[in-house]
Amino acid sequence: MKVGFIGLGNMGMPMARNVLAAGHQVRAYNRTAARAHELAREGAEVASSPAEAAKDAEVVVTMLSDDAALEQVVFGPEGILEAMPAGAVHLSMSTIGVATARRAAQAHAQRGQGYVGAPVFGRPDAAAARSMWIVASGAPEHIERCRPLLEAMGAGFTDAGPDPAAAHLVKIAGNMLISAAIEAVGEAIALVRRHDVDPRLFMEVVAERVFRSPIYANYGRIALEGRFQPAGFKLRHGLKDVKLALQAGEEKALALPVASLVRDRFLTALSCGWGDDDWASIMRLNEPGATLAGRP
Ligand SMILES: NC(=O)c1ccc[n+]([C@@H]2O[C@H](COP(=O)([O-])OP(=O)(O)OC[C@H]3O[C@@H](n4cnc5c(N)ncnc54)[C@H](OP(=O)(O)O)[C@@H]3O)[C@@H](O)[C@H]2O)c1
Repeated sequence: MKVGFIGLGNMGMPMARNVLAAGHQVRAYNRTAARAHELAREGAEVASSPAEAAKDAEVVVTMLSDDAALEQVVFGPEGILEAMPAGAVHLSMSTIGVATARRAAQAHAQRGQGYVGAPVFGRPDAAAARSMWIVASGAPEHIERCRPLLEAMGAGFTDAGPDPAAAHLVKIAGNMLISAAIEAVGEAIALVRRHDVDPRLFMEVVAERVFRSPIYANYGRIALEGRFQPAGFKLRHGLKDVKLALQAGEEKALALPVASLVRDRFLTALSCGWGDDDWASIMRLNEPGATLAGRP
């Protein structure tokens, strides 16, 4: 399949590699061109603009930071909207808000193009290992068109129905839950440490016996190792995601008190200069001046 791939960041790069490895033809664009040239060594063609990546493509994958980046790549000068052939599908995998997803889906539909929202669960290591889980929504025929790519990039996908924004909402609500778990794990580890109980023992009980979830296990490990750099998922993106949840709640007059609290924790961590560190850095707020692996 002819694939345009736009956005080769922490996630996009390993995902594009897996699309190439599955035998598809990839024309890649990244704002910072060096990363596209890196992929060219593995067989991708380099595009000098989003439009160039999109022309002739059957599917255009986007994996960009946020709503503003997606808007620029779709609607901006040399954007994909005017360049994609009629009948081509935009496979939109970034974590973005529902309003942006709906606006993009509508604009594509007006040009006879498709839009599939397909955000992902899993960090860059899961993207590289093809073990991330994808939630996809859009017209059934458009999802079918994307199936070989979804299968090339992830362990599988859940079809969230025809509303293109539905998958994005599942992702936003899912990340809200993960960030709440990170905050809770950070507080609990700080509590046992403060009372000189071994946090490793605590995490063994929690992650292996009480809450058997990769989320508790992974973030417990990050906390115990004090490994907040390099970021798998940047804190500024985590802040963006919890704000998307609060916005979606506000649209329906739904208060989300835990999400509000987590947003404030991200803001405090941002003001500590940790925006490009891992979003698990909110755990560091419990022990000022210390990593959770050890006090200074
Ligand atoms: N990392 C994770 O664990 C994870 C997991 C699930 C979902 N996600 C979501 O996946 C998306 C990508 O995350 P990531 O971790 O790969 O982020 P990242 O490493 O920061 O990469 C962001 C990508 O967007 C590009 N970009 C940003 N602004 C742009 C603009 N105005 N125009 C064109 N390109 C622009 C960047 O280009 P440059 O290289 O030029 O900066 C880069 O390719 C986000 O929506 C994130 O929430 C991330």
